[in-house]
Formats: sequence, structure tokens, C-alpha cells
Amino acid sequence: MQTLSLTGANGVSDILIETGLLARAGAAILDTFSPSRVHIVTDSTVAPLYLEKLEGQLSLPVSHTVIPAGEEHKRLTTVETIYHDMLAAGMTRKDLVIALGGGVVGDITGFAAATFLRGVSLCQIPTTLLAQVDSSVGGKTGVDLAEGKNLVGAFYQPRLVLIDPAVLATLPNATFADGMAEVVKYGYIANKDILDMVSQPDYKAHIEDIIYECVKIKRDVVAIDEHDTGLRMILNFGHTIGHAAEKLGNYTDLTHGQAVAIGMVAAMRLSALLGNDDLTAPLVSILQHIGLPTELNYDREAIYTALLSDKKKFGGVVNFILVREPGRAEITPIEAEKLHKYILKL
Ligand SMILES: NC(=O)c1ccc[n+]([C@@H]2O[C@H](COP(=O)([O-])OP(=O)(O)OC[C@H]3O[C@@H](n4cnc5c(N)ncnc54)[C@H](O)[C@@H]3O)[C@@H](O)[C@H]2O)c1
Ligand SMILES: [Zn+2]
Repeated sequence: MQTLSLTGANGVSDILIETGLLARAGAAILDTFSPSRVHIVTDSTVAPLYLEKLEGQLSLPVSHTVIPAGEEHKRLTTVETIYHDMLAAGMTRKDLVIALGGGVVGDITGFAAATFLRGVSLCQIPTTLLAQVDSSVGGKTGVDLAEGKNLVGAFYQPRLVLIDPAVLATLPNATFADGMAEVVKYGYIANKDILDMVSQPDYKAHIEDIIYECVKIKRDVVAIDEHDTGLRMILNFGHTIGHAAEKLGNYTDLTHGQAVAIGMVAAMRLSALLGNDDLTAPLVSILQHIGLPTELNYDREAIYTALLSDKKKFGGVVNFILVREPGRAEITPIEAEKLHKYILKL
């Protein structure tokens, strides 16, 4: 078992990573918490796969909410359903909420835990690669509004995160590849050894070690900038143009991971246009090896407009995350006018 801990403003989060851990989750949970009852939130895809396995290990009253799978359910009405189910089950402030699922379940459940009775204990059991390397660690929780994604939320750290890479076996290949986009991102921003690991033909056999290295980076960044006021921005490598592409594709043409892959390639091209060494070719080859797209197929003018409406723009300046050598990222403010010229050349 590999363990990491994250010390935040409101205490410590323990992160345990081990293949097969879900089968021992009950013991790990009861080592950390002493609730009178537990409420599990999961979704309609994950429930038939893993819910019973988890419930069967908890020797105390357990209730659950199964939400329909999909980002379109990451909204306030779903949170309200969870509150009602928790009240009906008799949950009190001393009890425990568990999120069992991907990033959607994790974000909604985290928000419900942060707000129910002004805060109840939270355990994250992420079941997608994206949730294991990214969303389950760091305490960002929330839901979408009709106006945009993640517009309502709270910073709320889980006391415990249980990561079992074995559950990834049931993920569709495309969903696995989506999480790999974030893995490649971590390699470029903070640890080039990850890129070497991922370049191996049998990288999936080493996914536990890869996850550990990624979570360690996320832990380190969040420990310095828990509330996202500075350094945490480096986690947005590939996400600036990626978000613009996601938006132009109405959030349906590209998955998040595909958009991030395309966004990383575009950011690398931009870096070369700014006079840095051109690192685009090796990035493209890693992404192709994983099965992710690399070409930005949207009108550049539309990309620029979408970029400027993104929330990461402040006062005519866009903060770009650039990588000038693998394993090290820099936050580079670029004036909007100058950026326009470069985007047209991408
Ligand atoms: N809080 C954060 O810091 C943070 C960071 C990144 C992303 N996010 C959020 O995460 C969400 C995306 O997360 P995601 O990519 O995990 O999507 P998701 O939760 O929608 O999961 C993708 C699909 O995989 C299914 N699934 C989950 N685990 C499975 C398993 N083990 N086997 C088979 N199927 C499984 C789900 O039911 C779903 O259909 C977005 O809402 C995004 O905003 C949050
Ligand atoms: Zn992302």
C-alpha cells in the first residue's frame, strides 16, 4: 500500500493507494472514522459493479443514493435528492458520507457533505482514472448551473481517499484514455519520469505507480495553494485552450480528456511561437500512443473569443501555463492582443 497525506487548513486527508483496496475499504474506513451510520452516493453505472461490495463490509447501518450517471446530473436538484435521502436515513453531523464513483459523483457528494448540516465527514472512493489522479484529491466540490460548469461549490477536504486501481478494469477504454490526458499533464508540469512510464508499451500494468506519482504532485500543489489563488493554476496546463475547444464543441464533440490533450499540444505550439524549444512532436507521439487526439479543429478566431470569456482571464491578460522543458511548468501572463496574434498562427 502506498500512502500520502495532505495537510490543509482544516486538517489532514489521508490518501491510500493499493490494487484490491476496495475489498478492504471497510476496515480502512472504520480505522479512520467512528460514525453511527454511513451514507454512500454512487451512480447508476458504478452501483451494480461495486456498491454491494462496499456496503457488505460496513458493519453498521448503511443507506445510499444512486444518481443517474452523467455530467448532466451534476446539478443542485441532485444534491437536494441526496439531502432528502440522508435525512430519511437519520444521518446526523457525526455520521459519514462516502462518494463511490467518478468525478461527477465525487464533486456532487463532496458538495452535499460540505453543506449538509453545515458539514459532515467525507470519504472519497474514486472509480475513474480522472477521479483517482485528479478530482478526488484537493477538496474542490460543486455542481454545474445552466450558465456554466462548476459555478457553485465549496472547498471541502475528504478526511480519507481510497484509491483502488483494480476498479479501472471495468472502465471503457475511452474513459481510461481521458484520465490519461491528466496523467500526461502531470508528467509535463512536474515529473518527467511519468512520461517515461507512460511511453512504455505495457504502461497499464504499472498504473498503480503512475497514479501514485500523479497524486503526489496534486497533493504537493494543493498543500501550497489549497484555495487556488496561485500555484494551483499550473494544474491547468492544456486546460486553457482545452476549455475553449470543449465549449466550441458544446461539451459533446470532445470529452474533457480529449480537449485537454488537444489543449496541451496547442499550448506547446504557442510556447514554440514565443521562441522556446519546440516540444510538440514528443507530446504528440505520447498522446497518440495513448489514443488521444492532438489536432485543434476549430476556427482560431472562435477559439480566441472562447478563451477570453473563460474565467481565468483577468484584466486583458490570460495566464498561460507553458512547459519549456518536460517536468517544469511556468505561469506566463500573455496580453490579450498579443495572444490573438499567436492563436491565429496555431
Ligand atoms: N473536483 C475537482 O478537482 C475536479 C477535477 C477534475 C474534474 N472534475 C470533475 O470531474 C467530472 C468528470 O469526472 P469523470 O471523468 O470521472 O466522469 P464521470 O464521473 O461522469 O465518470 C465517467 C463515466 O464512467 C462511469 N464509471 C465510473 N467508474 C467506473 C468504473 N470503475 N467502471 C465502469 N464505469 C465507471 C460513470 O458512471 C460515468 O458514466 C467533471 O464533472 C469535472 O468537472 C473535478
Ligand atoms: Zn482536467
